[in-house]
Amino acid sequence: MALIPINDLQRRHAPFREQYEQKIQQVVRQGWYVLGPEVEQFEQEFATYCQAEFAVGVANGTDALELALRALDLPPQAQVATVANAGMYSTHAILAVGAVPLYIDLDPVTMTMDPQDLQERLTERTRAVIVTHLYGQMAAMPSLIQVAASWGIPLVEDCAQAHGAQLEGKPAGSWGDLGCFSFYPTKNLGALGDGGALVTSKATLAQAVRSLRQYGWEQKYLVGRPGGRNSRLDELQAALLRLQLPHLSRWNQRRADIATKYTQGLQDLGLELPQATYPSCVAHLYVLRCPWRDHLRACLREQGIGTDIHYPQPDHQQVTITPHPFAQVSLPVTERVCGEVLTLPCFPELADTEVDQVISAVRAVSHG
Ligand SMILES: Cc1ncc(COP(=O)(O)O)c(C=O)c1O
Repeated sequence: MALIPINDLQRRHAPFREQYEQKIQQVVRQGWYVLGPEVEQFEQEFATYCQAEFAVGVANGTDALELALRALDLPPQAQVATVANAGMYSTHAILAVGAVPLYIDLDPVTMTMDPQDLQERLTERTRAVIVTHLYGQMAAMPSLIQVAASWGIPLVEDCAQAHGAQLEGKPAGSWGDLGCFSFYPTKNLGALGDGGALVTSKATLAQAVRSLRQYGWEQKYLVGRPGGRNSRLDELQAALLRLQLPHLSRWNQRRADIATKYTQGLQDLGLELPQATYPSCVAHLYVLRCPWRDHLRACLREQGIGTDIHYPQPDHQQVTITPHPFAQVSLPVTERVCGEVLTLPCFPELADTEVDQVISAVRAVSHG
């Protein structure tokens, strides 16, 4: 165990133990375990949090992306524009619906989709865009929406790393046609297992996703919609997420404070630090860039400081993807940043003394 871990979920959940136990007993006694009243209430509360009309709970964030694309009813072999530096999740969803990824390069500062590159690479075959808000930072939504609208194609937001992030006062998930969330345990809002949700303000899309998450049922046992899946959020996870949701804004603020402290403490070392504005950016991960990333990482490991790399391999260079013709693409910014990114510990329960220790350790290596 690292002295300072990259994340520590025990610390997050310890204060909730009693509340969780009571809630679990309540759900057990109630006798309804999948898509019941807890899910329904969580959906309402989460929709309100995201300033969207509807939220639909699903089994995980990757399913949320897949069901979003299914709800958009893409023709076979349609291209879906996405980035290649966000852990393969959107690529998995695109391939699962029989579509083809069209990789777009990044803005070198935010490491999110570059609107200019989107405009240049879109084709007549492109039928949707998935924009990933990475590390807690929202992508350049006004410009991206403008490009998508000028081509008349829908835009899906991947908000798995951006619960509560805002741009111009509008939350992540409320900009596009659909917003997709993961509640994987390490997320800013995390379940004690898998979970996910879609948000939208379009009633027809909400209706489509509700049907698709449960076999394509229009009514019980009547399959009216093709492409249905079993991807449901269960009552226990929804109940535990409901207990956490009121704390999300406070946790996001603490993440922002930690990120600000890192940025102040590491200013003058020649490292590329996040240029995010807090608390609009919810600092899901604190990711710096450093050409000698592997050496820095090894030195921090020796001092008991946990780090991670989000993500080491661009999607188009993953071994399962390289044989496909769509992988034959040049993405200079994506390829460079994957070799330089390094994630420092940044979670709400991290103590200030630990943040100081990380800063001192990075400074010592950088000066050494
Ligand atoms: C950006 C992004 N999109 C999608 C996902 C997929 O979510 P899940 O693991 O719940 O399938 C994740 C996280 O794991 C993610 O970080």
